[in-house]
Amino acid sequence: MEDDVLQFYEEMVGDYHLIFADWKQGVLWQGEVLDRLIRAQAEEPAVSVLDCSCGIGTQAIGLAARGYRVHATDISAASVERARREAASFGVSATFGVSDFRELTARVEGMFDVVISCDNALPHLSSDDDLLAAARNMKEKLRPHGLLLASIRDYDQVASERPRSTLPRVFDDPEGRRIVFQVWNWSADGKSYRLHQFIITEERQGWRTAHYTTCYSILLRDDLSRILTEAGFSEIRWHRPEESGYYQPIVTARKV
Ligand SMILES: C[S@@+](CC[C@H](N)C(=O)[O-])C[C@H]1O[C@@H](n2cnc3c(N)ncnc32)[C@H](O)[C@@H]1O
Repeated sequence: MEDDVLQFYEEMVGDYHLIFADWKQGVLWQGEVLDRLIRAQAEEPAVSVLDCSCGIGTQAIGLAARGYRVHATDISAASVERARREAASFGVSATFGVSDFRELTARVEGMFDVVISCDNALPHLSSDDDLLAAARNMKEKLRPHGLLLASIRDYDQVASERPRSTLPRVFDDPEGRRIVFQVWNWSADGKSYRLHQFIITEERQGWRTAHYTTCYSILLRDDLSRILTEAGFSEIRWHRPEESGYYQPIVTARKV
């Protein structure tokens, strides 16, 4: 499964921003929303953030722009490289590294006030043992009373519906239109699905279709809460989109 995940993000790296209406605007908006949540949850003003699944930098750059000292890592070296370039283009400073979030203790130096993993990175792991390893590594990188913040897709909602696809979103770019949607192939037991990401862009000669594929496990909120408890986190709280303003449920948890 890991090779599949890595290949998905390495192949998609140049197109990743295209799944957002306006990625650059999204970066600043995510920084604002997450900053508000961190301020509301942190016991003391948070200064340092480790984004351990930073991708091309969506949250890392947004939080660096809000004044946090950010170290950003990801399993995909190509994504980290792009995040580094994007941070420079935003004029923000952050440091970067490559790491699987199950190996943070071995690969990342220092301790952080906040560790984040946003936009459904954890459900790429396929077993409780892997999730527990990730949660323990994230906890090890937090200073005492530090805050973990992770967002996942609302699988509690989709698990029973087993949707076959997402609705297409059509964006009007200056160069032409862009259509973005996903097709999901469910496993027989309903515990995982293969995602097919389609990005169709209108070009002068016609339409270009980009297709990327990977696997996700269905990670329910109670299951992630149980794993965080087992990893030793306390004060585990779920923040619904209506409350946080974010587009996915967010869990926060504290290192005791
Ligand atoms: C949906 S993307 C989100 C990226 C970024 N947080 C954002 O919102 O743009 C999920 C990210 O998780 C990373 N990822 C998946 N498995 C990982 C692992 N085991 N360790 C670290 N990063 C991982 C992927 O490489 C990818 O960049």
